[in-house]
Amino acid sequence: MLILGVETSCDETAAAVVEDGKRILSDVIASQIAIHSPYGGVVPELASRKHVEAVLPVMDRALTEAGVSAEQLDAIAVTQGPGLVGALLVGIGAAKAMAYALGKPLIAVSHLEGHMHAAFLGQDPPAEPFICLVVSGGHTALYRVDPDGESHFMGSTRDDAAGEAFDKVAKLLGLGYPGGVEIDRLAVKGDPTAILFPRAFKERDSLEFSFSGLKTSVANYVRAHGLPGDAQGVSGAYRLEDLVASFQEAVVDVLVTKTVKAAQMSGATDVAVVGGVAANSRLRHRLMEATAREGLTLHLPPLRFCTDNAVMIAAAGFTSWKRSGFCPNPLDLDARSRWIAKAYS
Ligand code: KG4
Ligand code: ZN
Repeated sequence: MLILGVETSCDETAAAVVEDGKRILSDVIASQIAIHSPYGGVVPELASRKHVEAVLPVMDRALTEAGVSAEQLDAIAVTQGPGLVGALLVGIGAAKAMAYALGKPLIAVSHLEGHMHAAFLGQDPPAEPFICLVVSGGHTALYRVDPDGESHFMGSTRDDAAGEAFDKVAKLLGLGYPGGVEIDRLAVKGDPTAILFPRAFKERDSLEFSFSGLKTSVANYVRAHGLPGDAQGVSGAYRLEDLVASFQEAVVDVLVTKTVKAAQMSGATDVAVVGGVAANSRLRHRLMEATAREGLTLHLPPLRFCTDNAVMIAAAGFTSWKRSGFCPNPLDLDARSRWIAKAYS
């Protein structure tokens, strides 16, 4: 089964051709990072306009690189949500038009299910039941994935997502966008124990997260001590590298603790961590240590499948299409910008 995946939920226009949910024939991404970078975050209107410009060329390139004609496709899978509504509508419109013109089935995919499918794109896919932490710019949530493939929600953030905290802290420190990448790079040279930032709910049995208080603590620290090297001259009391390493450690500490707790509570021994923040080097390192210590088996997607891509959408599309008995979605489907639960609740 040849599926063209289309992803435009945020700031990447992506298309990919994947065979049987596994064999990657092409993987094309047009990134908008340079466009949003001066603003320190994604500007929704700019994102939509750039998707409009990029979506057809990106879909064309995905077909060309795969050596597949549009007629050879078995179906077109597209991200229906969650995400920025204007951005989602561009991909959905393009996918619908193609499905209609070619008379091919359209498959609506949850962006979160897409991220979860990235766990199956590595050399060593997880075996159900497994715990999946989805940790990205928009989500921080734990699921238990059962042998029947159903995902069950276990807990999520009450406020900011972990990636959002990375991006907001980076913005307040005047670092580039996306903030997680910059902080990861700088933190390697810092001392993660230099400043003790709060770890919300860490000791509780609940699987909830909260990162907005941590972000405020960093803002208060900077207000009290100044930025290193800033013009006000209150600087010099600490190193930027130590600040970001300490912030990152607080995020990572909670993510690792809650993921291990979820595994212990559910009895699952396989653990997968997916989404943009799963690319974080410190998180990957701490997860490896903690899972080895606790007798758990860790599955991390290859780095390029952590952040948004269309391979994961085509792969998730194949699974959900198969599970539905190859039933297509109607061509009048709409974007679901706040869609968090599909099989999850
Ligand atoms: O999955 P993704 O591409 O988009 C969403 O669905 O949100 O994730 C983007 C998020 C951003 O917040 C970005 O700062 C974060 O993932 N991110 C990272 C790293 N690479 C990307 N956060 C921490 N460390 C990284 N290396
Ligand atoms: Zn994403």
